[in-house]
Amino acid sequence: MKLNIGIIGCGNIAKSVHLPILVKNPDIKAVFISDTDARALENIGELFGIEKNRRFLDYMELLDSVDAVFILTPSHTHYALVIDCLNRGKNVFVEKPLCMTPDEAQSIEKTAGDTGLIVETGYNLRFMPQLKLAKKLLKKGHIGRIITINGYYLAEAPYLREDKSFYLDPEKGGGVLMDGLCHLIDISSWFADSSIEEAYGFSGTYDDLPVENIADISIKFESGVIGHLQALWAPLSEYLHTETLKTLRIVGDRGVLTPAIYSGKINEYRAGKGTHTIYPENMDLRNPMWALNRSYLEQDTTFINHIKEGINNINKVKESILIIEILDAIKKKKAYKR
Ligand SMILES: NC(=O)c1ccc[n+]([C@@H]2O[C@H](COP(=O)([O-])OP(=O)(O)OC[C@H]3O[C@@H](n4cnc5c(N)ncnc54)[C@H](O)[C@@H]3O)[C@@H](O)[C@H]2O)c1
Repeated sequence: MKLNIGIIGCGNIAKSVHLPILVKNPDIKAVFISDTDARALENIGELFGIEKNRRFLDYMELLDSVDAVFILTPSHTHYALVIDCLNRGKNVFVEKPLCMTPDEAQSIEKTAGDTGLIVETGYNLRFMPQLKLAKKLLKKGHIGRIITINGYYLAEAPYLREDKSFYLDPEKGGGVLMDGLCHLIDISSWFADSSIEEAYGFSGTYDDLPVENIADISIKFESGVIGHLQALWAPLSEYLHTETLKTLRIVGDRGVLTPAIYSGKINEYRAGKGTHTIYPENMDLRNPMWALNRSYLEQDTTFINHIKEGINNINKVKESILIIEILDAIKKKKAYKR
């Protein structure tokens, strides 16, 4: 069975990530696209060879033709689009964050449960080869028992983009909480194999941006593991691909794993065995985008395969909800306690 896929939102992430993957996927029969901006619609249509009769200004017009949608619009629009698409019987991939508020997140969970349709959120770090390898090593007890998990996530979106898009609008999901910290919460919970039960954090701006560009939280997982996560927007492009400002550090009682988020490598220390650098299998060391590109490819392919195989893991929605609840508490300057 081949699938028809609808794209809602033909902006940066559609163009640079999802469309290049989806137009080549052998399980996809046809891609339909929509964007409220006629110019974006035409540009993407021409770039990816999508026929004019598969391009729509109103996403409602493509829903009858597709099995699933990729919602790739500014974050404040996700909620209404997810609910609408579920109610029209479509499986949903939605870029992170799932939505803006805990109420919206719970409403999505209910509608997903009622309809039995798949909802997956774009937390692509879980598909990065080096982070998958780190997870496998942690499970095997490679560094003993986990004591603490720390994460640093540098991004530059608002500094690099000429159009700035929604990233600088606090009402539309702009700011580093929804852009970067959400990724760290997701990946650290995955490594801990546990949910966060307490979080205390701060967010603010170190210059005159209208949204927060630095966020920092201390977390405690149900398992007892304690951690610390920091997300930062700064114009430090030369540093972006280094292991210093975009990295995770998991400390165990028998060693330390430091997987880089971009470069694809892992530095490890193991008691009695010293320090080593390890790489995921078949890594292309010459391509700094290798791990990132692999993550997006596997993420999108997994969603397509889940539809084909009828695999629906509602826990993924629950995990996305927890992230929204924690971000909401930080925004409101409150402690998060489950
Ligand atoms: N997982 C990741 O690594 C990652 C990276 C970047 C962005 N994102 C997420 O992807 C989403 C989009 O980000 P972007 O940078 O591509 O934004 P963008 O501004 O470049 O593109 C968004 C597009 O959506 C269109 N749009 C808005 N409302 C619409 C509607 N109702 N119907 C159809 N089209 C509509 C806009 O006209 C625009 O073309 C955001 O939620 C962002 O957080 C995720």
